[in-house]
Amino acid sequence: MPTKIIIKNNGSIKVEGDFELYDENGNKFDLAGRTRISLCRCGQSNDKPFCDHAHRAINWSAPVVARTLPPPVPKP
Ligand code: FES
Repeated sequence: MPTKIIIKNNGSIKVEGDFELYDENGNKFDLAGRTRISLCRCGQSNDKPFCDHAHRAINWSAPVVARTLPPPVPKP
């Protein structure tokens, strides 16, 4: 199943499908077979990078609407 990433209004980044999650040192998270996770977007989770629903307690507001991005700027 291809990876699908859903940015939830006022909440997390939901990732589902075939994916692997690594820290910046290249260490792979053991997701215990999960094919769906939610990553914190609000910065308040006590279980980063995963969402623990702390965004609800702070009434975090960050609506998202899909849009077209400009072309990437070529790197020198
Ligand atoms: S987005 Fe849910 S705790 Fe941050």
